[in-house]
Amino acid sequence: MDSPNRPHMEAWLRYFDDLGLSPFYLDRGAAELPSLAAAASPAPETTRGAPSNASRRSAAASPVLPPPRPQDAVLPVAPSLFDATPRVEGDSLARIREDIGDCKRCRLCEARNTIVFGDGSETAQLVFVGEGPGHDEDMQGLPFVGRAGKLLTQMIEAMGLRREDVYICNIVKCRPPGNRQPERDEVATCSPFLDRQLAAIHPRVIVCLGNVAAQTLLGTNKSISQFRGQWFSFRGSKLLATYHPAFLLRTPSAKSEVWTDLKKVMAELGLKPPKPKPRSA
Ligand code: URA
Repeated sequence: MDSPNRPHMEAWLRYFDDLGLSPFYLDRGAAELPSLAAAASPAPETTRGAPSNASRRSAAASPVLPPPRPQDAVLPVAPSLFDATPRVEGDSLARIREDIGDCKRCRLCEARNTIVFGDGSETAQLVFVGEGPGHDEDMQGLPFVGRAGKLLTQMIEAMGLRREDVYICNIVKCRPPGNRQPERDEVATCSPFLDRQLAAIHPRVIVCLGNVAAQTLLGTNKSISQFRGQWFSFRGSKLLATYHPAFLLRTPSAKSEVWTDLKKVMAELGLKPPKPKPRSA
């Protein structure tokens, strides 16, 4: 590049390096993509549900991940909302929740009943990120407690884990009216808090459930069907996107693909599937 913008671009790429996002920007097609805000906007399959420990609390509990492997996928990336969030020293989930307060930062506050912050272990090695609360979540203040949530719980248990072993959260913390997709400005307003949650937990693996979560975190406008089941590097965590449980409720035939994806996650975390319970006579 031979332009006055060159130093700016170089600084930007160094910043991506610092964030561990180099595998993305290596695809220079990124520059042609619309911004992340656009990436978070509806795509054909994005109907609702479609397709350290601050500094890692202890080395033994949270082994340092190897650098991205050559087979890790490369996606074009647009400037991500997650690049803009300042690091908060000694951050914790409690502090982030406190900072959110009785949030009125976007219009989603108008119709919500409760803020759905997230649920699970602050030391989780595995985080699931969904799209946004639905009716049941809005009533109970907990993520994934409705029909899709029950299926997610079954998926977690099939992996040999309990819900309380993992952390579950969403791209936006307030229910979009009528379960519509969150708008790009709502995502932009809420993202810094999710960003801080992910940084505070610093899991080994992040699983994005559905298009909205995957496109938002990866800063892409590609459809999830083009990259589900592939590994990405996200700020020192490994990230994989799979279909949303709500999509599976409508399309049970896609369950086998999701199980294939979850088995990859299990292998990465060194988990073995639980032994089937013996049938009672
Ligand atoms: N769908 C989501 O994306 N998140 C929830 O918490 C519940 C349903």
